[in-house]
Amino acid sequence: MKKVLTGLQPSGELTLGNYIGAIRQILKYQEEYESFIFVADMHAITVPQDPIKLRENIRSLLAIYLACGVDPKKNTIFLQSENVYHANVSWILECLTPYGELGRMTQFKDKKEKNANFGAGLLTYPVLMASDILLYDIDYVPVGRDQKQHVELARNIAERVNKKYGDIFKVPEPLIPTEGAKIADLVDPTKKMSKSSENPKGVIYLLDDERIIRKKIMSATTDSETRVVFDPENKPGISNLINIYTSLSNLSIKDIEEKYKDSNYGSFKSDVADIIINTLIPIQERYYKLLENNEIDKILDEGLKKTSTIAKEKYESLKEKVGLHR
Ligand code: AMP
Ligand code: TRP
Repeated sequence: MKKVLTGLQPSGELTLGNYIGAIRQILKYQEEYESFIFVADMHAITVPQDPIKLRENIRSLLAIYLACGVDPKKNTIFLQSENVYHANVSWILECLTPYGELGRMTQFKDKKEKNANFGAGLLTYPVLMASDILLYDIDYVPVGRDQKQHVELARNIAERVNKKYGDIFKVPEPLIPTEGAKIADLVDPTKKMSKSSENPKGVIYLLDDERIIRKKIMSATTDSETRVVFDPENKPGISNLINIYTSLSNLSIKDIEEKYKDSNYGSFKSDVADIIINTLIPIQERYYKLLENNEIDKILDEGLKKTSTIAKEKYESLKEKVGLHR
């Protein structure tokens, strides 16, 4: 079976956009591939982090993915910092990666602009990411556009090392998700719904309670008409709500237009709110339960055991080839 690996940054609260656009893709991969999922906590500290908040974010992220349906029986789930081979392999690969190649990474250039005293880890970040991937002979790495360049770098590193030392690494491929619906901001539907948005009224967070969800949907920006018709160009607000509706139900856009052809926006919006609430409330119930019991720890223990056995073997063979032995 082909292998897929997903790295998750423990940052901020996830949104309905993340759920529809990214989390549900992962739920598909677990049915089709041997799937590895880990929290990239060592990547998180390439920018300043509050230690207490970071620990909370790690647990919360795992709980939310599990609550959304990531199945620990179908995925190997682990915490990057617990598996020491990632950083060990990364050091060797850093020594084999030209400095100039890292300086050209778009994300590095962006992030260093925002942080005058950036640490060296911001530069070497993509090499650690390459190690995450290359340790497990991964076939596919699902990434958004912003991370594609890093997967290309991992390919270059793998090819270079294989050429120099013989076949050690599988050369991975980026897996660009099939274009799902892009969910827009509820206040400004010309913008993407994003966790870093300035106005929380435009964003449904996965942990928003029922009352807040209803309020945000009922006050979502629409237009001066009353027709529930999908027309992203002229009716971005209503089209966004239709997108949410179709993503979370088994009705097509056409079905929805038909169903609401004699309705006003109020009753349509109220149904959209119901559908979101019916999706998110069970997820929230599972989320809070997971934070209370020790299931997450058991899953991480098991993931660590499995991944360190695989990673140790890869590390040992790389070390040997490079000449790091007695
Ligand atoms: P971000 O939260 O911007 O780091 O995005 C993480 C992933 O979630 C992206 O690669 C997208 O696949 C997905 N995503 C984020 N926001 C949206 C959105 N508004 N609509 C659809 N997908 C989204
Ligand atoms: N850099 C990725 C991000 O910011 C997270 C990540 C770390 C990752 N290591 C990875 C993703 C390995 C895929 C494979 O989203």
